[in-house]
Amino acid sequence: KKRIVSGVQPTGSIHLGNYLGAIKNWVDLQNTYETLFFIVDLHAITLPYETQQLSKATKDTAALYLACGVDTSKASVFVQSHVRAHVELMWLLSSATPIGWLNKMIQFKEKSRKAGDENVGVALLTYPVLMASDILLYQSDFVPVGEDQKQHLELTRELANRVNYLYGGRKWKKLGGRGGAIFKVPEPLIPPTGARVMSLTDGLSKMSKSAPSDQSRINLLDSKDVIANKIKRCKTDSFPGLEFDNPERPECNNLLSIYQLITSKTKQEVVEECGDMNWGAFKPLITDALVDHLHPIQVRYAEIMSDTSYLDNILADGATKASSIADVTVNNLYQAMGFLRR
Ligand code: TYM
Repeated sequence: KKRIVSGVQPTGSIHLGNYLGAIKNWVDLQNTYETLFFIVDLHAITLPYETQQLSKATKDTAALYLACGVDTSKASVFVQSHVRAHVELMWLLSSATPIGWLNKMIQFKEKSRKAGDENVGVALLTYPVLMASDILLYQSDFVPVGEDQKQHLELTRELANRVNYLYGGRKWKKLGGRGGAIFKVPEPLIPPTGARVMSLTDGLSKMSKSAPSDQSRINLLDSKDVIANKIKRCKTDSFPGLEFDNPERPECNNLLSIYQLITSKTKQEVVEECGDMNWGAFKPLITDALVDHLHPIQVRYAEIMSDTSYLDNILADGATKASSIADVTVNNLYQAMGFLRR
């Protein structure tokens, strides 16, 4: 079976962008592929954060994976920091990463500009190397992510090729290895719709956990009233009717796309149903669809959180399974890089 890995940071609350861009697709993929889904807590410390909240946010995120339909009889779910090989591989990969590759990462540029020099730790720069480790450790074939992770995936691929070139090939063969690849070169899986869910208050910026206004996003755990209020106040326009793909109507395209995805309709069906509507008719429709879609997730989330030893056991099993794969990769690389092994 081909293998898939992906993860979400336990920062802030999980929103519709994380769900439609990533988690919802994991649920479909787990039936066809071997899947490992992690909560990337080590990534969550790259900007200033609340230590008291990290472990709760980590558990919440894991519970939401399950509530959204990740099935642990098929997928392994674990916490990144529970598998030590992530950090270990990161160091080895760092030595093969040109610093220029990191300097040109868009997310680094944006986040470091916003955070201000005082708050920009080295980890914010080297973050993509940790992400590459997360993926390469498991010899992953595919990585389902939203559009904003595309550049990080590209770096992961380049890094895999570079390490294969530097330490794989003939040198590696002489050491008794399989020869050729140390790492499989993974491919991103970016969904055709939902890869870039936009803010409710500005159709030109993406929905994000770090946007200051909570009005800009729908969180998976938002109550019915909160959802209704956010939709009521979201940005719209004064064009007649509703349409996809009009560059002058980014908010309209975004809301129709969200509606399409949560109702599992085709684009054509949405056009036929909503093309002639005005905002006054569409807003209650999308509100109800969101509430209907999120309600069962919220019920399952509450159930899972009411029995925390259930979750602890799942995370422990997941970490054991993941470590057994990850350790092989790291040990191979140590050997290929010429380290004296114990
Ligand atoms: P993070 O935690 O920012 O986001 C988690 C996932 O949600 C997707 N996403 C979106 N998709 C559509 N529209 C949006 N507005 C939106 N916002 C976020 C992201 O693309 C992502 O798939 N570096 C990663 C986490 C990570 C990772 C990995 C992912 C660390 N190691 C290894 C895959 C494989 C991140 O910060 O995602």
